[in-house]
Amino acid sequence: MPRPRQKKPGQVAVIVPAAGSGTRMGGTRKQFRRLGGLPLLLQTLLVFERHPDVHQIYLAAPADAVDVLRMELEADGLTKLRDVVAGGGTRQDSVHAALRVVPSDVEVVLVHDAVRPFVEANQLAVLIATARAEGGASLAIPVTDTLRRGHDEQFRETVSREHLYRMQTPQAFRREWLAKGHQHAERLGIQATDDVNLVQAIGCPVQIVPGSSINMKITTPADWDLATILWPHWEASHENRTAPPTDATPDA
Ligand code: CTP
Ligand code: MG
Repeated sequence: MPRPRQKKPGQVAVIVPAAGSGTRMGGTRKQFRRLGGLPLLLQTLLVFERHPDVHQIYLAAPADAVDVLRMELEADGLTKLRDVVAGGGTRQDSVHAALRVVPSDVEVVLVHDAVRPFVEANQLAVLIATARAEGGASLAIPVTDTLRRGHDEQFRETVSREHLYRMQTPQAFRREWLAKGHQHAERLGIQATDDVNLVQAIGCPVQIVPGSSINMKITTPADWDLATILWPHWEASHENRTAPPTDATPDA
């Protein structure tokens, strides 16, 4: 008897929202500043270009940068880049704009901030495998600081940190879950700071995948200084290291 043919895993796409204006960085488009000799955006995109489990890249960029980025990123050798779209007024709008051009046969969609270049390839592999198996997953790290509310320059009650996590990206979902989450949010006027919130709002569970604190979001000038110090060490310890292929054989 012929063995039943195993279904091949579907395509994995990543959406990178990069249409922000860097208000907390002092009004500079931090995603285009150079880190380790290349624009921060490109350093982040290269993580996915080099990862065997990711097949397609979609970028949401400031409207005035869409055309030039299309040309430049192709010249930079980003073979997985499928489209660059104009982002929106919020991160959520930018992700939604890119999600609209992701083909419906894509199985899993990742969302990852352009300003988080320090992603571990092995964590990315675990995240993708978890999203394939369970439908939704995000990198996150348990809170380790003592938490306390404050009002009028005075501390008030202490907040238990038990069961609390600092959410990171990438976050990964079945394409339909993410699409439904964004449609639902648009209908109800919900604005959220990450995609887990939108997917949970339609009742879908999201799994915790351990991240690491080096996967920082470069938000303030102090973050930028720290990223500049970290970069040479990161680059030296990640040179020539690619994640071992897992279940990455795509359908197409
Ligand atoms: N982003 C986006 N579209 C927006 C706002 C943000 O694509 N309208 C992107 C940013 O470019 C960044 C990611 O979302 O890659 C995380 O946002 P954040 O760190 O807040 O960046 P900015 O919005 O640029 O910074 P700020 O909030 O300080 O203005
Ligand atoms: Mg912002």
